[in-house]
Amino acid sequence: MSIFFFYCILFNMQLLGLLGSLKGITSDSVASQCVLKLYEAGEIEVIDKSEPQQLAKFAAHFITYTDQPQACNFASFVPYGEDNPLQRAEWIKFLGVFANVESRANQVYDAVTQSYQCLTNRTKGRTSFKPTVAWMQYENGIWSFTKETYKLKYVEDAGGENVDDSINKITYNISSPDDLDQLHAILCTVDVVIDETYTSDAVNYNSSTFLQNINVEDHSCFVFLSNQSLWRYDKRIQNSTALDWYNGAVSQPQLVLADLFEVFFPTGNYTTTYFRNIAKDEGVVHITSEMCDRDISIAMEPTIPACG
Ligand SMILES: *[C@@H]1O[C@H](CO)[C@@H](O)[C@H](O)[C@H]1NC(C)=O
Ligand SMILES: *[C@@H]1O[C@H](CO)[C@@H](O)[C@H](O)[C@H]1NC(C)=O
Ligand SMILES: *[C@@H]1O[C@H](CO)[C@@H](O)[C@H](O)[C@H]1NC(C)=O
Ligand SMILES: *[C@@H]1O[C@H](CO)[C@@H](O)[C@H](O)[C@H]1NC(C)=O
Ligand SMILES: *[C@@H]1O[C@H](CO)[C@@H](O)[C@H](O)[C@H]1NC(C)=O
Ligand SMILES: *[C@@H]1O[C@H](CO)[C@@H](O)[C@H](O)[C@H]1NC(C)=O
Repeated sequence: MSIFFFYCILFNMQLLGLLGSLKGITSDSVASQCVLKLYEAGEIEVIDKSEPQQLAKFAAHFITYTDQPQACNFASFVPYGEDNPLQRAEWIKFLGVFANVESRANQVYDAVTQSYQCLTNRTKGRTSFKPTVAWMQYENGIWSFTKETYKLKYVEDAGGENVDDSINKITYNISSPDDLDQLHAILCTVDVVIDETYTSDAVNYNSSTFLQNINVEDHSCFVFLSNQSLWRYDKRIQNSTALDWYNGAVSQPQLVLADLFEVFFPTGNYTTTYFRNIAKDEGVVHITSEMCDRDISIAMEPTIPACG
């Protein structure tokens, strides 16, 4: 069997031990060190997805790529539509059925679920401070707060509080003084900002970029700045654009949750996998083939964070 996949399921393929049957990808921008290694060794090829003859020689064909690298919404594989972080990870079972490795898929999913629930239980034990968290993005002069349910769920599960529901529905045009005033007032209530703004140049996206996009002179009331908690999920990146957030993070919600614990309740004792703090000028980690340090023929184990 040869399989031709795109990048948002490459991580799941590794968890299932299927990398050996990967023959083609649609782009060499892949946020996976071991897939890069295979590509550089000439074991997989990059296929022009606009050429049907090229695709025809592959036994299975899941495209999970449209114009934007973050979109992963092909009808056959749509973990991105799910409302809950664990449901997104559960899509590994779909691949498992397809490739006849159902029991491995169940085993991985059970380990991930167990870890996620253990971490969530740890949050329930916390009674005191809950930081207010905003996922927000800027595009063409407009800021908006996330409507994506799974992100709001992550915040709750990690022990934070989402910005008020009513404001998530509204967009803020930075050319409008009224909008700017409102945006400013909201940001004065936020302890942690996750800046989701798309960029083709993540390496150079820093806190200055954020402030420029926010377009407010006076940010003295911004606790997330004075307390240095301004984050992006583009820490692990390949070739400036392919984010592991859209690949490994979908399969490993337990690691995202562990990251968010550190973001909300910093210990200084845990290195985040997917998030970088641009308020502290943290840079990106470039994914390269040299980072692939495992035997590709063996199924990879999910990373299970400590849950003490
Ligand atoms: C989480 O807590 C619930 C009830 O408090 C318990 O039944 C469950 O076993 C715990 N799960 C894990 C994975 O620790
Ligand atoms: C934002 O506001 C400016 C000035 O009022 C206006 O020209 C522009 O069209 C608005 N942008 C959007 C996307 O509505
Ligand atoms: C500010 O940061 C400290 C440590 O980094 C944290 O303990 C505290 O909860 C934060 N305060 C707010 C309001 O987020
Ligand atoms: C952000 O990057 C720009 C250019 O890459 C640089 O001029 C600026 O000083 C940086 N800002 C911070 C806060 O590091
Ligand atoms: C990076 O992306 C560019 C443009 O998409 C491509 O031409 C180049 O081959 C890529 N480089 C690597 C190392 O993947
Ligand atoms: C940091 O981690 C070590 C080892 O896991 C642990 O012994 C120590 O208590 C931790 N320190 C803090 C401040 O959490």
